[in-house]
Amino acid sequence: MKHERVETNAGLLIILTLAVISVGGLVEIVPLFYINDTVEEVEGVRPYTPLEQRGRDIYVREGCYTCHSQMIRPFRDEMLRYGHYSLAAESQFDHPFQWGSKRTGPDLARVGGKYSNEWQVQHLIDPRSVVPESIMPGYPWLAENDLQYADIEARLRALRRVGVPYSLSEEEYQANVERFGEEVARWLDISRAEENLVAQARAGNYDGDPSRITEMDALVAYLQVLGTMVDFTQYDEGYFVEFR
Ligand code: HEC
Repeated sequence: MKHERVETNAGLLIILTLAVISVGGLVEIVPLFYINDTVEEVEGVRPYTPLEQRGRDIYVREGCYTCHSQMIRPFRDEMLRYGHYSLAAESQFDHPFQWGSKRTGPDLARVGGKYSNEWQVQHLIDPRSVVPESIMPGYPWLAENDLQYADIEARLRALRRVGVPYSLSEEEYQANVERFGEEVARWLDISRAEENLVAQARAGNYDGDPSRITEMDALVAYLQVLGTMVDFTQYDEGYFVEFR
């Protein structure tokens, strides 16, 4: 068929355009129905603890994502700067996910453990006190605000409804023991969410003030776990290449 015939015939052009878009659309949409099979399980990846999850809520509330992505692409420059490229499994339990390409600040997918808690707290209160050329705004109120966690169970229940395996029943708890091990299963038990949150904040003392649980405790607990769940030293490059 001569291309001219398509270009000069509006009806034919519309039909062919729709056909092309439909195929393209199906290729993108159909895999979403099989997302559970599409995302490879990777050892170590677990849902966030109640405290980390509250930190994540604050991260979203404060709009950190408007400057920071959490998605390291499989390019040499990104891997040299940020570490191993992100795996689909690593954001498997993220609702909403924090992918993106808007990087006014650096990618944070593997920022966990890069700095001490003290550095994170200081940086969040006053970024320019540790990075003089920084253009990041300060968030001093995070250290002042008490963390609200009376609704933590409801928050985890909501995530459970969209497929994050926080457990409500004994069967779900046992399934988590099998999938993640006893210790993690206990963190994911909704009925113990509040006591778990308090215990982690006390033990971690993320904001340096053991007398209170602040929003800073939660946010730093979250930042410090980012990218640390998978132990990449146990795999060689070849293993994850299959997942790209
Ligand atoms: C206006 C854009 C902007 C916003 C909003 C922003 N940041 Fe940043 N962030 C930056 C820039 C630029 C840097 C690099 C300079 C620096 O380290 O301060 C940075 C650096 C960081 C670093 C250090 C990363 C590294 O690898 O060195 C962390 C951690 C961080 N930001 C966390 C946050 C958190 C948490 C929030 C939300 C409470 C936030 N940022 C909001 C721009 C931003």
